[in-house]
Amino acid sequence: MAAAAGARTRGLLWAAVVAHVVASGAGFVKDLDESFKENRKDDIWLVDFYAPWCGHCKKLEPVWNEVGIEMRNMGSPVKVGKMDATSFSSIASEFGVRGYPTIKLLKGDLAYNYRGPRTKDDIVEFANRVAGPLIRPLPSQHMFEHVQKRHRVLFVYVGGESPLKEKYIEVASELIVYTYFFSASEDVVPEYVTLPELPAVMVFKDGTYFVYDEYEDGDLSSWINRERFQGYLNVDGFTLYELGDTGKLVAIAVIDDKNSSVEHTRLKSIIQEVARDYRDHFHRDFQFGHMDGNDYINSLLMDDLTIPTIVVLNTSNQQYFLPDRHIESTEDMVQFINNILDGTAEGLKIARSEE
Ligand SMILES: *[C@@H]1O[C@H](CO)[C@@H](O)[C@H](O)[C@H]1NC(C)=O
Ligand SMILES: *[C@@H]1O[C@H](CO)[C@@H](O)[C@H](O)[C@H]1NC(C)=O
Repeated sequence: MAAAAGARTRGLLWAAVVAHVVASGAGFVKDLDESFKENRKDDIWLVDFYAPWCGHCKKLEPVWNEVGIEMRNMGSPVKVGKMDATSFSSIASEFGVRGYPTIKLLKGDLAYNYRGPRTKDDIVEFANRVAGPLIRPLPSQHMFEHVQKRHRVLFVYVGGESPLKEKYIEVASELIVYTYFFSASEDVVPEYVTLPELPAVMVFKDGTYFVYDEYEDGDLSSWINRERFQGYLNVDGFTLYELGDTGKLVAIAVIDDKNSSVEHTRLKSIIQEVARDYRDHFHRDFQFGHMDGNDYINSLLMDDLTIPTIVVLNTSNQQYFLPDRHIESTEDMVQFINNILDGTAEGLKIARSEE
């Protein structure tokens, strides 16, 4: 009798454990220790390196459990784990962990850092992208169109084997953290595309396409890094941080998106027009967009900008520029940009607080 009761109790306990695991998703996230270094070799791992005391890590935990569930449900080959980087600090430092939480995808000898927003969808998308093939072939026109609809910025290599393709693969192995890389043969490329020569690397975005030109555009890696954003963006703090890698100047209309008064909508359309109509002049040096609200920009610049306004940030030297008069038209904006480029607009230094 006693044995039966014991078994029943254990059964109930087990059910409770299972229910807990399913509810929290913790069961799909493996707790990693020293043995990870040896055992990880044959698998692709997505790992959250955390510290028990860190607030951002605690906030990530439920998201991470959802990531574990989702990867499992998708049948993804990527295993999801977490490691207390303070308990296993030597392993963590071997993986280059310096802050918490650090999210990495580990694939053979390669380690990819995740720096995007810490949401389930963004993290899952990153893991699938980086774990998947470096170059994804587009075997048919149908497939090409399908992928074109799903990606606002689409890089495609067109042609057979070549030194350019080798270069493309090399760049992809680094920049896959940011974007997808595709390849296609000439006959599946949309008919409106004219390629001056083959092989070619092109990007489809902003309703058109651009072809990489080694002589004009410099090395492939920096071209892709510059072209991986749409010409005009809805800029938030994270985008601004990402844009820092491009070294570009970022021209932003800071507006209240919900305010339909003409002052707000006009600045937005001025920037949109400059981005579109003056692309050839400015796209190498400038990124364009708008930002909703002035809270973020004011805390970044430690300034007190009132909206609507325009601000141009130099992401490579922490300077910013404000127009010295109202921008009323596209011509005013172009004038302002030219003044920045020829050095007649006065740059302000971002007052940095000690971090
Ligand atoms: C909309 O913007 C205008 C001009 O900046 C401002 O005067 C007005 O108060 C704003 N309206 C609302 C509802 O915030
Ligand atoms: C932006 O900063 C870089 C790095 O200091 C500098 O070389 C460049 O001239 C700046 N651009 C403008 C327009 O001020």
